[in-house]
Amino acid sequence: MQENRGRFSSRIGFLLAAAGSAVGLGNIWGFPTQAASNGGAAFLLTYLVLAFCLAYPVLMVELVLGRHARGNPITALRRISSGERTRAGATLIGSVGVLVASLILSFYSIVGGWMLAHFLSAIAGLAGFDQWSAWLTGFSWQRNVLFTLFFMLLTIRIVSKGVESGIERWSTRLMPSLILMLLLLTLYVLTLDGAMQGLKSYLIPDFSRLWSPSLIVSALGSAFFSLSLGVGTMLIYGSYVDESESLPSLGAQVTLLDVGVAVLAGFLVMPAMYVAAHNGVEIFSASGELISEDTLIFSVLPALFDTMGVAGVLVGLAFFLLMSIAALTSSISMLEVPVATLIENSSLERGRSAYLVGAVILVVSLLIISQFSSLFGFVVALTTRYSQPLLGMLFCIYLGWIWHRDQVLQELKRGSPDVAQGLFWKVWPVWVKYVCPVFVLLIFWQAL
Ligand code: PHE
Repeated sequence: MQENRGRFSSRIGFLLAAAGSAVGLGNIWGFPTQAASNGGAAFLLTYLVLAFCLAYPVLMVELVLGRHARGNPITALRRISSGERTRAGATLIGSVGVLVASLILSFYSIVGGWMLAHFLSAIAGLAGFDQWSAWLTGFSWQRNVLFTLFFMLLTIRIVSKGVESGIERWSTRLMPSLILMLLLLTLYVLTLDGAMQGLKSYLIPDFSRLWSPSLIVSALGSAFFSLSLGVGTMLIYGSYVDESESLPSLGAQVTLLDVGVAVLAGFLVMPAMYVAAHNGVEIFSASGELISEDTLIFSVLPALFDTMGVAGVLVGLAFFLLMSIAALTSSISMLEVPVATLIENSSLERGRSAYLVGAVILVVSLLIISQFSSLFGFVVALTTRYSQPLLGMLFCIYLGWIWHRDQVLQELKRGSPDVAQGLFWKVWPVWVKYVCPVFVLLIFWQAL
């Protein structure tokens, strides 16, 4: 089986694919809006600490497990289990992970569809098709169905091409353009009136808010979702990494890229909000709270673009193209989890598996669209707030308490032969065994 498995062809290919998975709506939408409603710089600081102290170790758990087992989450957890009970537990945890990854995709593809629709709306606006442009940004079920389908088809097509010629090729094409566009947009917004005030609130912490439990919990959840943890995505990507690569350094680079893009997106979105406020768009309530976190990107930012004339249409176009790309490189990593699992457990080939799994997930998306007000928020909370942290904690427990320490070290030594002498090996195993589960349990506790 191992010979037929896909592989990333190069280190940069893996880096861009894994960073493509991590960098998504969570970074460019989730992080900046949460920062805006949680005291700006105080949130930024907490997020940075948690991303490196908690998310990075859990990411390493997934990468090591994945490369060791060269298989999906169920196989990976089963391979390190010795007893009947732990093996049954492994099957259960792995299967729930695969299911949760699929459920995340079912709502993510709806949001990805909105991004595509807003992007096309900007083009329609430029071409003078104002009615089309308005339809594309309106919240009709027809628009939602059409664009979810469109987004899902793009995702399926890339995944059906395989690891190297699908996921890796598209991630290496899309990620650099995403970072470049983000940089250019940020530089542009920073030159506008009002931006400096946004910059101040992003960079000067209000220390009184630093220790608020709700801020810590949001920052922790944000870091976790942002690094695609707990659902086997990074585990599967890890299973395609070559043995000659050093996992601790690859993991650190993915974390740095992911956190870097989130921080950079903050430099765009926070100032953009204050520019919008400066231009008369209402973004804060009388008590100083953000009016609406969730719709910020679809109401505040387009309102900002509107105040900028033709330049605004172009900026809007670039912005929603950026969001679509970010969403797509993440959605392919979600679909890869159930698809790889199906391929490894059946005689179906990749193309068919991708279309089959994609079609089933699409049905769930359509169900969510049909009962949007009751289902959407529920699925988001169920998957990202509850399941991701809990599953991540269980991965840590399997690595820390069930897998033999020697075998963990053997796996790490592939690609980094001196790892046993370094700081990483002194801290990480203990950290994963005790600190991470306790921390994740705390998030879970709070979320409940
Ligand atoms: N990390 C992605 C984002 O920030 C979301 C994601 C979650 C991707 C789970 C894969 C798995 O948008």
